[in-house]
Amino acid sequence: MGAEAAAVAGRTVVVFGAYGHTGRFVVEELIARGFVPLLSGRDAVRLKAMAVEYDVEARPASVDDPASLDRALAGAAAVINSAGPFATTAAPVIEAALRAQIPYLDVAAEIEANADTFAHFADRARAAGVPVVPAMAFYGGLGDLLTTAAMGEWTAADEAHVAYGLNSWHPTPGTRIAGEVSRGRRDGRRVRFSGGRLEYRDDAAPVLEWVFPEPLGARQVIGEFTMADVVTVPSHLPIPEVRTYMTVEAARDLSAPETPAPVAADGDEAGRSAQTFLVDVVVRSGGAERRAVARGQDIYAVTAPLVVEAAERVLTGRTRVGAGVVSAGEMFDAADFLRALAGQVTVELP
Ligand SMILES: NC(=O)c1ccc[n+]([C@@H]2O[C@H](COP(=O)([O-])OP(=O)(O)OC[C@H]3O[C@@H](n4cnc5c(N)ncnc54)[C@H](OP(=O)(O)O)[C@@H]3O)[C@@H](O)[C@H]2O)c1
Repeated sequence: MGAEAAAVAGRTVVVFGAYGHTGRFVVEELIARGFVPLLSGRDAVRLKAMAVEYDVEARPASVDDPASLDRALAGAAAVINSAGPFATTAAPVIEAALRAQIPYLDVAAEIEANADTFAHFADRARAAGVPVVPAMAFYGGLGDLLTTAAMGEWTAADEAHVAYGLNSWHPTPGTRIAGEVSRGRRDGRRVRFSGGRLEYRDDAAPVLEWVFPEPLGARQVIGEFTMADVVTVPSHLPIPEVRTYMTVEAARDLSAPETPAPVAADGDEAGRSAQTFLVDVVVRSGGAERRAVARGQDIYAVTAPLVVEAAERVLTGRTRVGAGVVSAGEMFDAADFLRALAGQVTVELP
């Protein structure tokens, strides 16, 4: 391979699930940063149309056909999986990444699927020398980075609280299906992280008041509205109580079958919806408390700079861990990573 071809190969990133709502944001973010996306997924017709639109290569592949995944990943520098439910797609695509010996990142929000990735692949990914970064997204990734940054030099804490202040939540079909799959795996029970482990419960989640930084202020939230942060944060930080909260209006949107899918807000050139977020993280140790806050627009759109920044850092060796299944907070210098997102996410760190 010539030097130029090698340089291009080092910048090629497969996006599995490229034509999904989130996948498209990921493809555009890769292009904006000078990467060459290779579009993959199971629908060859939709892939082809998108490949023509972006003038890139389409590589159809199915999770039921390992050889097709091998062809999709051939010669690429990394793979980003944005096709959910990850209960179905994560394992086969990770297997393909291990065979290809390339980094794997995904945007899984499913608690059990993320836990499975740690349980089933930690040893094999470490042995293969391959980094696997699950939940490198708004849920799971951003909360973990904020928690890690809030901790500073603390090596342990008593509690971590991640409060999601969303003004609305218009879910994509992929979000709805992921929710159904996760509920099915829990037999309809809810889950929280307490006493250092996932705990399944039959009672209703509490409703309480959370005082967000301004402009949100005091809001009603669903307590123990459990998101992927309960897998990522405890994967590397000894914190026995990890709680996540959701503003009631966003939780109501998510549960209402008639809530429409997200659409671009008028005049937003990046295609972001009008949804705004404020993620308020509080960690407590002894009597001390530390806080980290992130603000931005559109939880799907912001997942693209999160996962692409992660891919870029993995490919350029700006990581704290070389291989294995590693969450965002453990893999990267959290404060530095968050500051690099300026423009897309505004952060206040201790
Ligand atoms: N953690 C986070 O914060 C975060 C953020 C964004 C997205 N996500 C997750 O990412 C996933 C995608 O979300 P989205 O918003 O992009 O939803 P979406 O627009 O509905 O797209 C879902 C994509 O997944 C593909 N897919 C589904 N099952 C597949 C399978 N078995 N094999 C191959 N491809 C498959 C779909 O292809 P077909 O059309 O062919 O079915 C489609 O391309 C969801 O699980 C969502 O929860 C998480």
